[in-house]
Amino acid sequence: MILKPEQQAILNGEKGETLAKVMKTLVMFGEAFDAETMVPVTSKYNHLVTSFGLGALQPVYDLMNQFIDAGAVSSQKFTADPRPMDKNVPSGLLQNLVFKKFMYNKQDYYEDQLKKLGLLNDDAFTCTCYMDAVGNKPNKGDVLSWSESSAVVYANSVLGARCNRNSGILDIMGSIVGFVPYFGLLTDEGRKADWIVEVKTSKKPEAQLLGSAIGMKVMEDVPYVKGLDKWLGNNLDDDACTYLKDFGAATASNGAVGLYHIDGLTPEAVEQGEQLIADGAKIYVIDDDELQRVYDNYPVMWKNIDAKPKLCFMGCPHMSLQQLKDWTDKVESSLKQYGNKKVVIPTVFTAAPGVLKEFETTSYSARLNATGVITSYICPLMYMNNPLSGKMPVITSSNKLRTYTTARYFTDDEILVQITKGGK
Ligand code: F3S
Repeated sequence: MILKPEQQAILNGEKGETLAKVMKTLVMFGEAFDAETMVPVTSKYNHLVTSFGLGALQPVYDLMNQFIDAGAVSSQKFTADPRPMDKNVPSGLLQNLVFKKFMYNKQDYYEDQLKKLGLLNDDAFTCTCYMDAVGNKPNKGDVLSWSESSAVVYANSVLGARCNRNSGILDIMGSIVGFVPYFGLLTDEGRKADWIVEVKTSKKPEAQLLGSAIGMKVMEDVPYVKGLDKWLGNNLDDDACTYLKDFGAATASNGAVGLYHIDGLTPEAVEQGEQLIADGAKIYVIDDDELQRVYDNYPVMWKNIDAKPKLCFMGCPHMSLQQLKDWTDKVESSLKQYGNKKVVIPTVFTAAPGVLKEFETTSYSARLNATGVITSYICPLMYMNNPLSGKMPVITSSNKLRTYTTARYFTDDEILVQITKGGK
């Protein structure tokens, strides 16, 4: 790798031993991907994937202490992924004991470290940091050092920023030295599409299902999706952005997509159109049958597939303000239709703390509360990732949660019926 003088100086230790080690790590990371140069991180804020004080992560805390002691603190403030615990979310005594004593027993300690390292504020814990109520929304062309997969794919695709799918800790390292290796999705060449996806469904496809199908097919490649603007329109309005948030998270978790282009809608596709498609791109056609095939092939991880759900999680990634409002309307009218007053399965809607605060100022908040739905800033995956929660029959319309946990996937419409009518 050819370094600029100021990068070489950091590597040579002119800014201290800790920064030199961080730079060396990034150089080795870049060289593994044949990067030849490093480029400055240009976004206003950073975002960290590691938000949870898991007892087993002692090496992470030691590393963070090294950064703090050496004053190796980034000039960028940062947001971080959601907190792993929230007392609002239903949990048994034993689960609480496991969460607090055995799993996330370093949460306060770690949050204190994050504050010293530049956490934006107390409400900065969410994977949807790009929501207006949170304020970490990169500009088009910004170079980022993020690693949360759902946020990276959103920033690249919907906002037109540039970020590789880094792993945790590399995110803070790039931010601390202010440079990241130049390869992959940072380059024009790396942003070209290897796949043309033709959407030929008879109705608007479920975002999480379409994203899942594409992710599983293209894996880490870049898809150029045609035919979706028919359903989403040609404006990146609130509805389209919300759809793409959920769609993108599914592509990133069911596959390893870091960037997608939507014909006629996402910024680079609007500007460059089919010039974005690489020579020899493969074609994947998605119709109703293909979506059904994908859905039917999801494994059900419950011990008893006829069990009555004990919990429903919605909002992975975190819900937008509009989603919370729309779901309030939907839950209310569906309860009415089935003659129920409250949801029949404990249900949690998750959103960023800032979004929840905004929601609470609206009349929808009291209405949602009256339906029995609970709101929370938790990360459902962190809740599910232990043997006790793993045994619970949990339902969700998040394909990310389905992929990483034992939660069972249903479409939004199916979830609505389940939580308001009852049944399996
Ligand atoms: Fe966000 Fe946690 Fe889901 S980070 S995308 S709520 S797994």
